[in-house]
Amino acid sequence: AGPCDIYAAGGTACVAAHSTTRALYSAYTGPLYQLTRKSDNTKKDVKPLAAGGVANATIQDDFCKSTTCLITTIYDQSSKGNHLTQAPAGGAAKGPEAGGYDSAAPATGAPVTLDGVKAYGVFIAPKSGYRNNNAKGIAVKDGPEGMYAVLDGTHYNGACCFDYGNAETNSQDTGNGHMEAIYFGSCSFWGSGAGKGPWIMADLENGLFSGVNTKQNTGNPTISSRFLTTIVKGKPNVWAIRGGNAASGTLSTFYDGKRPNANGYNPMSKEGAIILGIGGDNSNGAQGTFYEGVMTSGYPSDDTENKVQADIVAAKYATTKLSTIALTVGSSISLQDTTDALSKRYISSAGSTVKVQAVSSSSNTSLQQEASWIVRTGLGHGDCFSFESKSERGSYIRHYNFELQVQPNDGSKQFAEDATFCTEAGLNGQGTSIRSWNYPDRYLRHYNNTTYAASNGGYMHFDDAAMFNNEVSWEISAALA
Ligand code: AHR
Ligand code: AHR
Repeated sequence: AGPCDIYAAGGTACVAAHSTTRALYSAYTGPLYQLTRKSDNTKKDVKPLAAGGVANATIQDDFCKSTTCLITTIYDQSSKGNHLTQAPAGGAAKGPEAGGYDSAAPATGAPVTLDGVKAYGVFIAPKSGYRNNNAKGIAVKDGPEGMYAVLDGTHYNGACCFDYGNAETNSQDTGNGHMEAIYFGSCSFWGSGAGKGPWIMADLENGLFSGVNTKQNTGNPTISSRFLTTIVKGKPNVWAIRGGNAASGTLSTFYDGKRPNANGYNPMSKEGAIILGIGGDNSNGAQGTFYEGVMTSGYPSDDTENKVQADIVAAKYATTKLSTIALTVGSSISLQDTTDALSKRYISSAGSTVKVQAVSSSSNTSLQQEASWIVRTGLGHGDCFSFESKSERGSYIRHYNFELQVQPNDGSKQFAEDATFCTEAGLNGQGTSIRSWNYPDRYLRHYNNTTYAASNGGYMHFDDAAMFNNEVSWEISAALA
């Protein structure tokens, strides 16, 4: 049985079931998600390998070979047709894409295995998110519902709001109690749990709640398992937060009691739209990774959820490497442009900017040093790398507004993540391509001799699709200096 078979047996059937990694009903054979290929904008659905099985990741790997792909639809596996697509502009924020839509997740940002079989999760960078404002069968007003999501407990930030669940149907903040969604992250602007976060909280609109108090509830722990099961459920004047390690063990209950003691949350005024990765009003500054999740009709029992947790653990989520080209940590390298080997242009610093400049063994020593980088373990993720300047020790390549800069490490989480890059085979068939960890469809690219974290055909001027594969492919050699 899959999670939705278990919920149905408990009398609280799924009315939305989303996953890019596996079927959530034992009989489901339909599409899990839709890819859009950036080279030609064609689309392809990824289905499970077998009924109830893991996604057929080979479909994605073949379709997206030598280009980049986005996850443009996450299909609803329930009979309700509650598919998720790119979220439209809302009361708090527009997205950066055409028409004010939020960005879609890059297809390769969150690789995992399930019982040894490769699959891909949904990696949500800031300004990305999904929504369905015409969902059917989701709880409204004070109606009972439950939801769970399996997330990456190490991918989060403190911005509003990495959510999955029930939200407003017009993408506006329509008032307290108009949402009921799982939140995950370290935002402490409204409420918080014990420690520094991240926490599983409930986004009930105009507040992230960790218990009965509007501010801190120390019974709700900081929790950051790599694979994390998160649960929020609600019914008249009762709601609960539960969670646990999605790869082993059982669930704990972090809150189970009355609605928060503030106006507007009892009774609730739920509207029944569905969001993923954003707040109710499209606040879109947050980040996180989603693997699977559902929403139910009716308030699931703890016993039903405990059986769902056992099913998630039995799916055997495990990590797989983010970098496929090995670099030796501590070694010094230079990175040469592959579009024009004769001009011998290398990635090199020029003050705090990063250029491609012609450099050779007869260039002066300072220029050779500016074109030489020490490979470090990724400041933001151990599977990936950071590049320390040989001429300015303690300074690293990082992106800022997607332009590459060389800046001293300020020790912040943001710096660490902006300075972390993962490797893969060169998109043009030569050398290595180097993608940003926190924006995985953005690759280290040269464009007019300046370098950027660029996406293929994206919304920035340096995202120009022409020459993209060539301008993101680098020949890596021992350092010039
Ligand atoms: O409740 C927290 C956030 O507040 C909601 O997600 C958003 O709609 C509002 O800005
Ligand atoms: O480069 C994109 C973003 O710009 C970085 O993540 C952030 O530090 C800056 O706002």
